[in-house]
Amino acid sequence: MMKQRSPWFSDARQWFEKRRLGLFLHWGLYAIEGCHEQQQWRYHVDRNQYQKLIKKWNPTRFDPDAWLDIAERAGMEYLCFTTKHHDGFCLWDTKLTSFNTMNSAYGKDILAMLAEACHRRHMPLCLYYSVVDWHQPNYPNQGRHHELPAQSEDDPNWNQYVACLKGQVHELCTNYGEIHGFWWDMNVPEAVDHSVNAIIRKHQPAAVINNRGFDQGDFSTPERDFDNDANRCAFTRPTEACQSVGSESWGYRERENYFTDRYLMQRIDHYLARGANYLLNIGPHADGTIGDIERGMLERIGAWYRGTRESFVDVEFAVRLTSNQEVLLTRRGNVVYVHLDNDPISSGVKLPPIDVMPTRATLLNDGRPVTCEVSLLPSEHLTGKPCLWLRGLPTNELANTALVIKLEFETLPETLPDTLGITTRADDCDTQVDREIHADDTRLR
Ligand code: GLC
Repeated sequence: MMKQRSPWFSDARQWFEKRRLGLFLHWGLYAIEGCHEQQQWRYHVDRNQYQKLIKKWNPTRFDPDAWLDIAERAGMEYLCFTTKHHDGFCLWDTKLTSFNTMNSAYGKDILAMLAEACHRRHMPLCLYYSVVDWHQPNYPNQGRHHELPAQSEDDPNWNQYVACLKGQVHELCTNYGEIHGFWWDMNVPEAVDHSVNAIIRKHQPAAVINNRGFDQGDFSTPERDFDNDANRCAFTRPTEACQSVGSESWGYRERENYFTDRYLMQRIDHYLARGANYLLNIGPHADGTIGDIERGMLERIGAWYRGTRESFVDVEFAVRLTSNQEVLLTRRGNVVYVHLDNDPISSGVKLPPIDVMPTRATLLNDGRPVTCEVSLLPSEHLTGKPCLWLRGLPTNELANTALVIKLEFETLPETLPDTLGITTRADDCDTQVDREIHADDTRLR
């Protein structure tokens, strides 16, 4: 019998395994000029000049329910929100710096508004927090990656900075109700300090913590597809891939280079089918609204996800059922899902050595039946073995999406290769992802 992978978590963090697609929201002062969330660093903006943006921060059209309507329509199952990005501007009522939303033209606690709506609508909320800080004078900015050059008015003092950071973590974990995750950014590998995540663990037992903070946390964070196509193995550690809707920025960018629907759906499929979560990012406008382009993309991705979701949740990774390495397979009992996470080059998919017909085959994208045969294909004459062949797939008609096919079998013969949820290359896969994230931070975009 197929062996079940044991759950990642056996406590309140289990929500993370059921809710697989999340919406990342990068929002802060940088939305005002609509350039890049690291505008200050990438374009050498004078610090004092940048800080003046606080006077212009007045998102009068911010309505957390409107965000949640969009998120829910897109099938998003949790949110991750930037409480403080590298610029140091805090979107909550923090007592530890005046550089926060309460002192802006807007003057309201944005996180409180968002958290209230999320709690009311049972939408898990995770908090992004940047360790790098371009405003707090104790942060030792030294011009390293994602850091500003040192300035004479700075007062670099790492211990004092961490004390302040811990105070802020405490505020975030005690003033806003239940928090489902903490998303550190900019790992400082030399700064291992378990007492930081301990604050989160103490106050927020449901919170999953990522690996870019003061220890390895709960999950890995391959970003922007650094984990490339070559990896066709399952993850053995909780993992959440993240990507933005455009290639240039995470914050709102007026002239963004948006990804195609197909690209995003294929990449989402590529990670979800291998057991990772996926966090898709948008940058709301400075007035608080979400742009039409982003909304449209999310709606189309949501429609796709609603159709295909059953192929990702409570399934085993089952790629070893077939020698066809162009597809990924997931499986729940006698139901097998075929994921076309790469561009299909024809209208057919063969799945040797499977040689039994399913009782039903359905294209999850739109529910239409899929034609199947078990036959000896000319291209298989050397093996001389008939195999299951899905043919006549609408690969041209649905070229702008990722196809997922559901195959329901009476039984799958025991003689099929081992269908452990994990391939033999799984360890390589995880090691590679972590190496990519930690080794070369200059690649973080
Ligand atoms: C990178 C970027 C940062 C962004 C983050 C999201 O670390 O440098 O700006 O917030 O990715 O994953």
